[in-house]
Amino acid sequence: MEPKIFPAGFYWGASTASYQVEGGIENTDWAEAARDGRVPVCGRACGHYEQYEADFSLAKDLGHNAHRLSVEWARIEPEEGQFDLVAIDHYRAVLKDLNAKGLKPFITLWHFTLPLWFAKSGSFERRDSPEVFARYCAYVVEHLGDLCDEFATMNEPNVFGSNGWLRGSWPPFKRFSLTDRVSITNSGRQYEAKPSRGFAPLFLYFRVMRNLAKAHNEAYRRIKRLSPATSVSVVKHVIVFAGNANPFNRLKAWVANYFWTHKFMKRVIRHTDSIGLNYYFYTQFGDTRKWRKTDMDWNFAPEHIYDALMILARYRKPIIVTESGLADANDSGRAEYITRQVEGVWRALKEGVDVRGHFYWSLMDNYEWALGFEKRFGLIEIDYETLERKVRPSAYVYKEICLQNGMVK
Ligand code: BGC
Repeated sequence: MEPKIFPAGFYWGASTASYQVEGGIENTDWAEAARDGRVPVCGRACGHYEQYEADFSLAKDLGHNAHRLSVEWARIEPEEGQFDLVAIDHYRAVLKDLNAKGLKPFITLWHFTLPLWFAKSGSFERRDSPEVFARYCAYVVEHLGDLCDEFATMNEPNVFGSNGWLRGSWPPFKRFSLTDRVSITNSGRQYEAKPSRGFAPLFLYFRVMRNLAKAHNEAYRRIKRLSPATSVSVVKHVIVFAGNANPFNRLKAWVANYFWTHKFMKRVIRHTDSIGLNYYFYTQFGDTRKWRKTDMDWNFAPEHIYDALMILARYRKPIIVTESGLADANDSGRAEYITRQVEGVWRALKEGVDVRGHFYWSLMDNYEWALGFEKRFGLIEIDYETLERKVRPSAYVYKEICLQNGMVK
């Protein structure tokens, strides 16, 4: 096999998101939903808020040279327009630790959870939500920008919008349905989605998606005014919809890719320095193959990250793989998944796609949203009783890749 050596300066690391790992965040829409019994309680999560130094030491020992994290909007702006310098000080300490350890930080300013005041006042349905969001983003960059020069405004706008306003499985639990009672099962528990019969949630979904794009664009403009050298991106969840030989299936794939990926990308592309890619799903219309599955019951298709990169390549911006990984509690497929995925990235690079980094999801097991703590995505296993960390064998396979900047054989 030919060696696959990545460009010098390629970023290798893993991702986390504040709410999923930190613990102790109670003033968000998700914490409120947990109190209402609609989603599992997150509680102290991994205790990463206190243990970040030890966790970053592990990442360093695992050969990483970069780390993607998010900062918690509800900590930084607990009330509308009131910012908390204690939270800022915490994240300054986090960034200093990352920098001291040679882990280049990539910050996502907002990863799904909303401050309660924002959620209760209408979330991204609010007409002024783009300005409100951009003010928060600019504040963070003003206070952390000397320690980090890579910021993404938001994580996976389409996942946030469709789970909240179409499927009704995430806050604010609005569901597009033509019947008036819809029950949803989250982590084995049944509850009623908001009885919003008819087309209203569909229109709201489109409004939310429009506002999210505007919010990104406005945040981009404000950050750039403040600090032109700061790189600003958006993290996009890409589902690879493919068709088989049948032209009708190809048409379906084209339409699905348009609505899931390109519609949003076209709205923001002039206001982004790079694109973050989160890849988890490959699905082919007309496919009759029996796929091997991950613990999430998702197709085990790591090499198709290549197709996801090709979908974004047309925008001609640098791409960073900000997430890709699998739930695999017994670690039986993770090493293979990572290896085949890195090969997929290599293939795209060879074809001229400007990929700059790769972050595995996730550094450690964490709160998997409506599924709670059962699904295990981590390179590091968490014992939720003791908060003990244990490095999984696959993490050492990834370590070799990170240290060799690719694959020697
Ligand atoms: C999200 C993560 C999530 C992961 C696995 C991504 O869509 O950004 O927060 O844990 O998928 O489901």
